[in-house]
Amino acid sequence: MFQTTPERNDIDNKFIKYDSKMLGQVYGTSDVTPYWIADMDFPIASPITHAMQQLVSRESYSYEFDSETVFQAISKWNLDRHNLDLNPNHFVQVPGVLTAIALLIREFSHEGDGILIQTPVYHQFRRLIESAGRKAVANTLKIEEGHYVMDFKDFERQLKDGDVKVVLLCNPHNPVGRVWTKSELQSMVEIAKKYNVLIVSDEVHADIVFEGSTFTSMASLNYDNSLTIIGSPAKNFGLNSISNGYIYSDNTELREKVKATTVAMSLDHGNAFTTHATIAAYQQGKEWFDAFLAYTQNTRDWIVQFMANELPQINTFVPEGTNQIWFDFSGLGLEPEQLKVLLTQQAKLALTPGTWFSEPNENFYRMNFASPLDQIQASFERLKISIETL
Ligand SMILES: Cc1ncc(COP(=O)(O)O)c(C=O)c1O
Repeated sequence: MFQTTPERNDIDNKFIKYDSKMLGQVYGTSDVTPYWIADMDFPIASPITHAMQQLVSRESYSYEFDSETVFQAISKWNLDRHNLDLNPNHFVQVPGVLTAIALLIREFSHEGDGILIQTPVYHQFRRLIESAGRKAVANTLKIEEGHYVMDFKDFERQLKDGDVKVVLLCNPHNPVGRVWTKSELQSMVEIAKKYNVLIVSDEVHADIVFEGSTFTSMASLNYDNSLTIIGSPAKNFGLNSISNGYIYSDNTELREKVKATTVAMSLDHGNAFTTHATIAAYQQGKEWFDAFLAYTQNTRDWIVQFMANELPQINTFVPEGTNQIWFDFSGLGLEPEQLKVLLTQQAKLALTPGTWFSEPNENFYRMNFASPLDQIQASFERLKISIETL
């Protein structure tokens, strides 16, 4: 049985997800069940805990770097899980996925250049682009038969217009839950090749892919002008506050350029906890991860069924991957403020507003469903009652 709650809950934490001040600021109340941040409530895999306990017991933190074993462990995991053949010598390590994105934007574009994002998309992309003085160029995703797809015509137009230097791909896509197919990614690469635009692929959600879908890494497509951020154990192993970012490219010139900057800024120094936790995750975490994936797939299925049977007026986008689910509440016919009151004050749900992700329609919300199913079931029952008593 997959364990959904930690053995102990008497140890202090400052988790953002549950922080009453933060909840008050965002939702106007802290009396909500938090489903807003993309992290899990579950205890992590025991081999990772054990590895970290060993470190604590050692009582010594002499300089210790072992990124070589990390890169080997990530490569082996990807070969076994995705049949993705990575060269362990082609990684560059930085202190986080967002650090990787920020660094790559600055390394491969200039102030004022355009960086293309496919909206609605993870909100930090826009923040990192704009805070670097670059321009976020939106290539808005289309909805076709209830399913998000890329708008390649618009994509080509944006690249042709000339000032896009980097495409920042979210693969799989947060928040709409698409696992881009090989054919979609090949179409993207064909266009990027034509205009010689660099693709940076954020693949932090790569392992969280449900039955029926197959993850394709940008690193497998032989596009020379690309870098992939791969292997961070943040989302798949729940190591959000202690994981690194791993940049990968088979293009020596691109990789050496990134490496030179990370070395110059001493960003490549590993942290012993992160290093040991990452090695334990990828070498010994398979059993736990498979149980976690099965558990969250079952939760996704429960939510999708419940919405179809009980609340069909709400449009639910079935995620193919990621632990995020995306809803359009337009069918309720409420004003945005009324919808907010319904969700936060009546149903007591802290969902992420779609507007954060550059979604103009204020009826869209994202929910992170990596929480215990019984808690989620109670939340949806409350949502149903709140809607019935409108
Ligand atoms: C697509 C995507 N990239 C990056 C991150 C953040 O990565 P990190 O906190 O490891 O820098 C997230 C977190 O939700 C994400 O969804």
